[in-house]
Amino acid sequence: MARFIVTAAWPYVNYVPHLGTIIHLISADVYARYLKLRGHEVISVSGSDEHGTPIELEARRKGVPPKDLTNAVHARDLELFKALSIELSNYSRTESFFHKSFVKSFMLKLQENGYIFEQEELLPYCERDKIFLPDRFVEGRCPYCGYERARGDQCDNCGKLLHPTELVSPRCSLCGSKPVFKSTRHWYIDLSKISGKLLEWLKSNDELQESVKEYSLNWITQGLKPRSVTRDTEWGIEAPFPGSQGKTIYVWFDALLGYVSATKEYLEREGRGGEFKEWWLNRDVKTVYFIGKDNIPFHSIIFPAMLIASGEPYVLPWRISATEYLLYEGQHFSKSRRIGVWVDEALEIAPGEYWRWVLMRLRPELRDQNFTWSEFYKIVNSELNDDIGNFVNRVLTLIDKLGGELGKPQNLDPIDVNLIEEARKTAYKAVEAMDSIRFRIATEHILELARLGNKYLNERQPWTLAKERREDAEKALWTAAYIIKLLAHLLTPFMPQTAEKLWNMIGGHGRIEEKTWDTELDKPLEKIKISKPEPLFTKLPPDFLDKIETIIEEARIKALKKRPPIIAE
Ligand code: MF3
Ligand code: ZN
Repeated sequence: MARFIVTAAWPYVNYVPHLGTIIHLISADVYARYLKLRGHEVISVSGSDEHGTPIELEARRKGVPPKDLTNAVHARDLELFKALSIELSNYSRTESFFHKSFVKSFMLKLQENGYIFEQEELLPYCERDKIFLPDRFVEGRCPYCGYERARGDQCDNCGKLLHPTELVSPRCSLCGSKPVFKSTRHWYIDLSKISGKLLEWLKSNDELQESVKEYSLNWITQGLKPRSVTRDTEWGIEAPFPGSQGKTIYVWFDALLGYVSATKEYLEREGRGGEFKEWWLNRDVKTVYFIGKDNIPFHSIIFPAMLIASGEPYVLPWRISATEYLLYEGQHFSKSRRIGVWVDEALEIAPGEYWRWVLMRLRPELRDQNFTWSEFYKIVNSELNDDIGNFVNRVLTLIDKLGGELGKPQNLDPIDVNLIEEARKTAYKAVEAMDSIRFRIATEHILELARLGNKYLNERQPWTLAKERREDAEKALWTAAYIIKLLAHLLTPFMPQTAEKLWNMIGGHGRIEEKTWDTELDKPLEKIKISKPEPLFTKLPPDFLDKIETIIEEARIKALKKRPPIIAE
């Protein structure tokens, strides 16, 4: 048994999240549930990233105070995540007093330890809007890859972190005019002082994805430049350094610390505040980060650098599970160009657990993944309904016909024994995939298991056996029910409520989420006692794809009605 801290990137709350954004939260939830089923002790955290330019921009566009916007989106997100069965230990927010105080004292500690220095810097200033244009307020051509819409802090095309002065032909993203470069004073973290320790960690960590490791080693070898930790904006956590009045902490140095502050907040709320050191300051604890690939440098360089610079023995990342992009019908999600579906709309089309399964089925683990409605249709109708739902229903209906109860047969036939062996092997392949955070592969093995079951039923034909050789029919159904039990266990992290329903249908005792796999997974039920069989899933209507435009439009209208007006459009 070990201790894990499982985290997901904190979504910006400028708008309700789209399907790509919630992949990280769902992944963290699935993994945390999985770890608990393996008997581990887990704290899972994420929250709303409330500061930074995306929010400031959106609030400006709407003419509202940023806090009003983030309050509304945070509250709506909590409802949506509940509908998605996302149950982290703490889903916090960066505007919480607890977090803000934590960040301020942490940053002061870095200064005390000699990692922070001050310097005048030339930064883009828009004379029309009368503001310094940090980060996303300034756009231009990327000096590395030539991408035209690179932002002042990062190029979305090649992933390189940028400084606004590096942009070719910069322009203000509010009004489009060319900014002037003006001098202003900022506070910097001297990353070069930390490169040695970062290298040591990167080289010794065998759990990091190749892509993450290569990228980071490369970056460090090229030399880490100092990075400013303050900004000339009003919206954010006030910079705590002597003489830094009027400046705020750069959003990333604020949000990343949320992983730590949210854990601390959780423990204190549970009356376990004294345990904090046994989590974050304990090298045996494993920390796992679910993020999108554009967030890699922040998690593999900036965050560990901050932890090291604190001088405290913080545990450095164990695994960083960075996914590629989810595309929507071949394009990038875009709110301004209205490409994609947003989570509240999605939930008007199908229940939360269906979305969990679909998104884990399509989790972009190795390359960008296209979300299409026809793929969605296939997953829901052929995989969930036909492969899993139909198998379960066939078996339970037959057991029902035989009286609804089955005891463990005295001896099984070779065909049954073989199936059980094959099913166990398939189940353990799923477990192995879960363990290495290949959820997509795990879902494939789960489906394979259901298909094995269907094939077995077709061969064994228990409905024919029931007429002449009742005893053999019972053996066959008992064997098939064994597969249902395996399915129920394996579905638990992905679809917790569906799994619980299935568990009850076959007469399992207690709650399935409490049945730890190491002792229970492949153990057959002593007795199968079923309740009246009910369908596990519902199919999408056959004309779903023909009507998809209308379906989306209607979902949009319904979702919009439930959004507070400040979020709408
Ligand atoms: N809000 C950021 C984004 O959407 C992610 C922040 S992750 C955290 O890209 F670690 F900083 F919280
Ligand atoms: Zn401007």
